[in-house]
Amino acid sequence: MQDLRIGVIGAWGRGKLAQQAHKPGKGSRLVAGADINPENLKLFDEAVEGDLFPTDDYRKLLERNDIDAVFITSPDFLHEEQGIAALEAGKAVYLEKPMAITIEGCDSLLEAAYRIGSKLYLGHNMRYFPVILKMKEIIDSGLIGDLQAAWCRHFISYGGDAYFKDWHSEQQYSNGLLLQKGAHDIDVIHWLCGGYTKNVVGMGMLSVYDKCERRSEDQAGDASWSESNWPPLSQTDLSPIINVEDHNMIMMQMDNGIQASYTQCHYSPDSERNYTFIGTAGRIENHGDHGKCEIHVWTKRGRRQEPDIVFNMKPVEGSHGGSDPNIVNAFVDFVTKDLTPNTSPIAARNSVAIGVCGHASMRSGCAPQEIPQLDPELIKYFENGQKK
Ligand SMILES: NC(=O)c1ccc[n+]([C@@H]2O[C@H](COP(=O)([O-])OP(=O)(O)OC[C@H]3O[C@@H](n4cnc5c(N)ncnc54)[C@H](O)[C@@H]3O)[C@@H](O)[C@H]2O)c1
Repeated sequence: MQDLRIGVIGAWGRGKLAQQAHKPGKGSRLVAGADINPENLKLFDEAVEGDLFPTDDYRKLLERNDIDAVFITSPDFLHEEQGIAALEAGKAVYLEKPMAITIEGCDSLLEAAYRIGSKLYLGHNMRYFPVILKMKEIIDSGLIGDLQAAWCRHFISYGGDAYFKDWHSEQQYSNGLLLQKGAHDIDVIHWLCGGYTKNVVGMGMLSVYDKCERRSEDQAGDASWSESNWPPLSQTDLSPIINVEDHNMIMMQMDNGIQASYTQCHYSPDSERNYTFIGTAGRIENHGDHGKCEIHVWTKRGRRQEPDIVFNMKPVEGSHGGSDPNIVNAFVDFVTKDLTPNTSPIAARNSVAIGVCGHASMRSGCAPQEIPQLDPELIKYFENGQKK
C-alpha cells in the first residue's frame, strides 16, 4: 500500500502536530508545507526528513495532485477559507479546532464537504485524552445514574503569554477566548452528556490584561511561555489591541434536559480543566487532566470529602496528555481505512456555535441566545460516516 501523502498548511506552531504522521513506508508521510513565515517554513524543512515541497502560498500546495490530505494548523480566522479551498481541491482535511470563528463559517465548511465528498476531520484532541475517555466510560456504565448536570472550571496559567500577545487578542481573528479555548471543553461536555446545547447565557469581562504594558504596532507579538511572567499584571509586550475577555462564564441548557456551566480564567497561577458530572446516583470529578491524575467518584450519601472510588490515571507518552499521537493516527485510519474517529464535524460546529452565542450573550447584557439549528440533511450525512 502507498503512503498517504500529506501537506501541512501552517507548518510550525501547532503544525508540528502533523509530524506525528511522518512515517515513510508505514502508511503516511509529509510531502509539503505552506507557511507565510519563511523562518517557520525553514524549521519545518529541517525537522522533517525527506524531499519536501515548501511554499508561502497554501493554494500552490493544494494545486498538487501528489497530495492526498492536508493538515490545516494555521490561526483560527483562516480555517474557513483554507478548509473550503482544501475540500474543493479534493483533499482529505484535518482541520484544527476551532472549526471556524463564526457559525456561518462552520456551516460553509460542512456544506463544502457534503457537496464535494472530500473527507473532513476535526482536531478536537481532548476526545483522545485518557482522563476524558475514562470519565466517559464511567458515565456510560451507569455508575452515577442518569446525568443531570455538568460543570467545568478551566484555569489557564499561560493565558497572558499565549492569548494576549498575538492574533488571539482580537475579536476579528479569534472572536473571543470562550470560543478559542472553550471549544474543547464545550465539545467534551456535549460528548459526555450525549446532547447539544440549545440555549446559552454568558457573562465575561476583560479586567486584568487591559491594564498591562503593550507592545507597539510594528513589534511582532511573542506568544512564548515564561514562568517569570508572574503576577499577571507584570506582563509586558501585550497586543496593542485587546478586545477579548480574560474571564468567561456561560450556562447551557441541552436538548436532552442536562444543564451545564463552563468558566474560564486566563490569569490563574495554575492550569487545569476540572470537570464534574452529576447524575441521579452519584458524581464524578477529575483532579488533574493529564499525566498522573485521578478521577474521584461518589456514589454514597454523606457529608464527607473522601470519594468512594478513585481511578488513578497513569502518564501516557505524547503531547497533550498523550492525545496528539492518537488523534493523528485516527485521522490516517479515517482516511485510509474508513475507521470511525472519536471526533465529529457536527459536534465541532456545535461547540463553535455555543462559543459564538456565549460571546454574543456576554456582549449584550447577558441576553439568552438560542443556538441556530443545522440542516438535517447535513447532520444525516455526517452521522452516516460522510456517505450520502
Ligand atoms: N488542539 C490543540 O491542542 C491545539 C493546541 C494549540 C493550537 N491549536 C490550534 O492550532 C491553530 C494554530 O495555533 P498556533 O498557536 O500554532 O498559531 P500560530 O500563530 O503559531 O500559527 C501557526 C502557523 O501558521 C502559520 N501561518 C499564519 N498565517 C498563515 C497563512 N496565511 N498561511 C499559512 N500559514 C500561516 C504561522 O506562521 C505558524 O507557523 C489554532 O487554530 C489553534 O486553535 C490547537
